[in-house]
Amino acid sequence: MDVVLVGLPGSGKSVIGRRLAHRHAAAFIDLDERIESSTGRSIAEIFEGDGEPVFRALERDAIAELGPADPDPEIRRVIATGGGAVVDPRNRWSLYRGRRTVWLDGRPEVLAQRLRRSPHVRPLVAGRDPIGTIRDLGARRARFYAAADVHQSGISEVQGIVDSLDDRLAHLLADERPAGTALLRAETPIGRIVVGDGIAAGALAAELEALGAQRAILVSEPGAWEAAGARIETGLRERGWEIEHVTLPQGEAAKRLDVVETAARELARLRAERSEPLVAIGGGALGDAAGFLAATYLRGVPVIQVPTTLVAQIDSSIGGKTGVDLPEGKNLVGAFHQPAAIVIDVDLLRTLPERQLRAALGEAVKMATLGDERLFELLETDGPLIARGHPSAFGRGYVAEVVERCAWAKVDVVVADERERRPGGGRITLNLGHSLGHAVEAAAGYRDLLHGEAVAYGLRAAARIGVEAGVTPPERAARIGALLDRLGLAIEPLPYSLEVVKAHLATDKKHVGGHLRWVLPTADGVVVRDDIEPGVVDRAATSLLAAGAGAPR
Ligand SMILES: NC(=O)c1ccc[n+]([C@@H]2O[C@H](COP(=O)([O-])OP(=O)(O)OC[C@H]3O[C@@H](n4cnc5c(N)ncnc54)[C@H](O)[C@@H]3O)[C@@H](O)[C@H]2O)c1
Repeated sequence: MDVVLVGLPGSGKSVIGRRLAHRHAAAFIDLDERIESSTGRSIAEIFEGDGEPVFRALERDAIAELGPADPDPEIRRVIATGGGAVVDPRNRWSLYRGRRTVWLDGRPEVLAQRLRRSPHVRPLVAGRDPIGTIRDLGARRARFYAAADVHQSGISEVQGIVDSLDDRLAHLLADERPAGTALLRAETPIGRIVVGDGIAAGALAAELEALGAQRAILVSEPGAWEAAGARIETGLRERGWEIEHVTLPQGEAAKRLDVVETAARELARLRAERSEPLVAIGGGALGDAAGFLAATYLRGVPVIQVPTTLVAQIDSSIGGKTGVDLPEGKNLVGAFHQPAAIVIDVDLLRTLPERQLRAALGEAVKMATLGDERLFELLETDGPLIARGHPSAFGRGYVAEVVERCAWAKVDVVVADERERRPGGGRITLNLGHSLGHAVEAAAGYRDLLHGEAVAYGLRAAARIGVEAGVTPPERAARIGALLDRLGLAIEPLPYSLEVVKAHLATDKKHVGGHLRWVLPTADGVVVRDDIEPGVVDRAATSLLAAGAGAPR
């Protein structure tokens, strides 16, 4: 077994790692030392001479050279990482899977004091206000460190830490249930978020325990149950949980008021109490309906979202929008109800049909266009494999990185504007591609196009409108178009009439004072504009319907 130590500079990874390795007659590997010995230069020299990106590339190589995780049940290697190594999702994918991970945590004042005494120069801290810098680094990296299996804090002397770690690792290693790998864990104002691979049952059990639940009330639907729910139930039973089931219809049919009434009556029969969490296992439709059930039953009970589709993992489970449809329109009745926790297990996506995966990437392109350059590049290089659900896209961590980046981008936007009240920015920016996207989705009767497919059409149209309005540089529009081409999205003409699409556009919820607010791409993000000429919109809609490719190429 490999043990990986993570934490801020000054947290004692080298000193503690060395002692722990010595105690188990295990090898000790310090990744920073390896880089220094292979290059013949100090980390500070590499940072100064070549810059941080070159150092990060060396760090990635050093992680790759570790090879596969040691499968022996005894501790064979202890690996100390550089403080920033785990910021890159691919590094975490390589380092955390199959290994036991430890976060060495400490108060910024203590870490700063240690760094002052240390002979090693830490480039990201040197020459700055050390306590402030460490606090800042800590805030930005906590979610990556907190994914570790063991959170070690509160002891200041080395011997005590090593003793405590030893106990806790022995306890972990004695548990033979497959634990999966947590990759990110964050406490946020919109719920605790855990992202990982193979974590669903274990992480859900931990959340239920944290909420003081006595039993697990699982709300699901037949499709998600077959693909994911039954496995999760087995994992919960192995951990001693008593299970209750509430089953909703599959797909959009779950989002009906009469379905919510039937489910609420089922909860009443189960004598569900106000403190008892519901667990929503399924895609966006199930999550919206179960979330609304949780928002309204007994005027609100906690809900844990366990999203099982890519749409749900990167979008619908995050942000607290719950609701059902009416015959007059989609999502017309609903409530904001933030989940207590969101457990995102990318392993659950392996059974998702290709069309579902590909369509959801329409939303991922939108998140990238909002300003995540790395996500853009990732979709350009690895998107086609992800869209096909290729095993290597899962095995190499591409899917996990897309999920993590999109999910976190949504968290950032929603935390800044939970109730969509900032007119010029905030949550409305998530509607990029959704104005004409919703209009064609409605024209298709919510049958022939999946939501993400419709958003892809809307994105092309938004880029075209942006170019005409002078806010989207033509090369940005071309890049968005080329990425959608590569992903095979929004490339077919659509058989709907311009008049019908325009009629749906007229009922868009983003109208304020008679003007539709358009979210349009800029060179590296988006702007919101309410002064787009009808002729510009007409041209974009016509071109979208005629050829799909509404953006100039
Ligand atoms: N609340 C929000 O912020 C928000 C955001 C975006 C979308 N939505 C809503 O989400 C819904 C669309 O979500 P969706 O695309 O996840 O639809 P969905 O929930 O209907 O799931 C799609 C299909 O996939 C099946 N499925 C679920 N998990 C599976 C798995 N792991 N393997 C194989 N099949 C699986 C389901 O049984 C279903 O047939 C819409 O109702 C939309 O309005 C809500």
